[in-house]
Amino acid sequence: MDIEEIRRGIPALNETTFFNTAGISPLPTVVADEVVDMIRIQEAQGRYRPDIQEMLSERSEQARDEVAAFYKVSSEEIAFTHSISEGLNIISEGIDWQEGDEVVLSDREHPSGYMPWALRLQQHGVVLKQFSLLPEPEGMVDRLRKVLTDRTRVVALSHVTSSFGICVPAKEIVKAAHEAGALVGFDGAQSGGQFPIDLADMGCDFYSATSYKWCLGPYGVGALYVKRDALDKLSVRRSGAWGIRTLDTKSGVFSFPDTARRFEYGARNKPLRVGYGRALRNIQDVGLERIEQRVGELTQYFKDKVEMIAGAHVQTPEGFSAGAINVRMGDIDHDKIRTALWDKHQIVVVSPAGGIRFSLAYFTTQEEIDITLDAIRAELA
Ligand SMILES: Cc1ncc(COP(=O)(O)O)c(C=O)c1O
Repeated sequence: MDIEEIRRGIPALNETTFFNTAGISPLPTVVADEVVDMIRIQEAQGRYRPDIQEMLSERSEQARDEVAAFYKVSSEEIAFTHSISEGLNIISEGIDWQEGDEVVLSDREHPSGYMPWALRLQQHGVVLKQFSLLPEPEGMVDRLRKVLTDRTRVVALSHVTSSFGICVPAKEIVKAAHEAGALVGFDGAQSGGQFPIDLADMGCDFYSATSYKWCLGPYGVGALYVKRDALDKLSVRRSGAWGIRTLDTKSGVFSFPDTARRFEYGARNKPLRVGYGRALRNIQDVGLERIEQRVGELTQYFKDKVEMIAGAHVQTPEGFSAGAINVRMGDIDHDKIRTALWDKHQIVVVSPAGGIRFSLAYFTTQEEIDITLDAIRAELA
């Protein structure tokens, strides 16, 4: 992997020491160009020329195929969305809830993974249960099993959590949930793009993905995977012009396609979809196994060194992590450290959950880690 060449293709990396891919990644030029080209073509040739419409539709359907191939599922199981939370709302709205039905979440969900279920609690009297991922991550599947009952309809959690970057054993979680007869799925905001993901093998019923974090794609586009045999367990609650198969407005008879497209509705941003596909090609060109390996080495280096700084403690559990590492730095105000890292050193981090989150991506260099370690030492001195 030629890191220098990769970094030349991501110009924003020249501006800062960037440790927030778990927030919003920098945008590679090839991806930005793809989106801009699509818009420029419309500008130059018109937005409703039949040939331009056809080209945009074709390219955005290719992007659907690219998302599907990336997650090792069928294109018919992919609906485009604009966000993780839109995908999860589609699932949570689509279930035919009975009062007293239970939803199980982890205790570490991002608001985008919590609210789509919390709203059902208000609306239908659904009971929301949580199980803890820590302190011993090894016991998390047992703790999940303990809260599953014959009323559990859904188990939903982050594949990799937001603040601590805890990577959950997805296959074991799917197995436990299915044994309880529940649908199970993941918020994939922090996992897609960090390591190879085979959703068919994982066996989950749904997975909500996004473009703008570890996939280094455009903001405002995502994808929802719905397993083929879960499609008919979910009603379509929102509709419009584009997700239907047939419609007779006189008789009121309509039908939906037998694919996840049924969950799409309204005007679609095709340039963003095309850009998402381009971003996935871009990281596949680098290679997901290589990304995983390089980030594993970088995070190990960072964790070993940061633990040697007096007062610093890695909160992300060993063996259950990927590229995002949360470090607690004693009892000091972490927002102040975050601000100092930016103001004095142009290091971009965030400060969630009583620590600083450092996101190490495949384009991160050891030199950047060393600069950051020096800055931490200076701030803690
Ligand atoms: C775990 C997780 N879920 C969801 C999101 C964002 O969701 P959305 O695309 O709905 O804004 C984030 C963003 O930080 C996240 O970390």
